[in-house]
Formats: sequence, C-alpha cells, structure tokens
Amino acid sequence: MHLIQWNEEMSVHNEEIDAQHKKLIFILNNLQVAVAERQNREILSKIIGELVDYTQYHFSTEEKYFHLLKPELAEKHKKEHRDFVNKIKEFKEGYQSGRMLLSIDILEFLNDWVVNHILGIDQTYSHLFEKKE
Ligand SMILES: [Fe+2]
Repeated sequence: MHLIQWNEEMSVHNEEIDAQHKKLIFILNNLQVAVAERQNREILSKIIGELVDYTQYHFSTEEKYFHLLKPELAEKHKKEHRDFVNKIKEFKEGYQSGRMLLSIDILEFLNDWVVNHILGIDQTYSHLFEKKE
C-alpha cells in the first residue's frame, strides 16, 4: 500500500486549490486503504465514484483561471485533465460492471498521475497566485 502525503512542494499558492489537492489525495489514500483491507465491491465502487466526481469538480476549479495563461499551455493542461477523466471513468465503469479489477497497476497509475500532475504542470500556473511584494 502506497499512501501519498501532501507537502509544501505541491503548493500552487492558492488556498482553495491546495485544499482540493489535499482532498483528492485523501480520496486516493482511502481507495488504497480500502483495497488493502479487501473492502467489498460496494465500498470500492463508492470511492471510485467519489474520485471521478471530485476530480471533475477540481479540474473545473483550476480551469476557471486558465484564461490567464498562454493558450497553448491552457490547452495542453486541459488535455491532461480530459485524458485523466476519461481514464478514471473507464476504470469506474470497468470495475462497476465487473469487467475489471482494481489492480496494483491501476492504483499505482492513479497515485503517480496525481502526484506528477501536481508537481508538474500544475506548478506552471502557480505564478498566478504568488504574492507580489
Ligand atoms: Fe491540473
């Protein structure tokens, strides 16, 4: 089981978005714990549903600021969001229909994607929120 811990390096200097990243990490950690505890399908389905819904809500918050960015960067970032949402929807549908299991590979993919996204492309909008003194 691989839990993620939010740290200052992940900050984008916006309280609302940082809080949402923490919540996203919380949901991912819940999923890891639930799988490790071999919780039933109903519980796991609920957490995956929460992950899908919250991720979409969070991305829409970030994207509210993207008109302030260079269009190419905004487009690239939105594409990362779209691709991830498509992927997690696929996992959700696959799991809920019984076609797919929540493998270690999937859990690792989710964790790695979220951490790399926050430390990577999300940092490219953080200058918008840095206090200028
Ligand atoms: Fe993002």
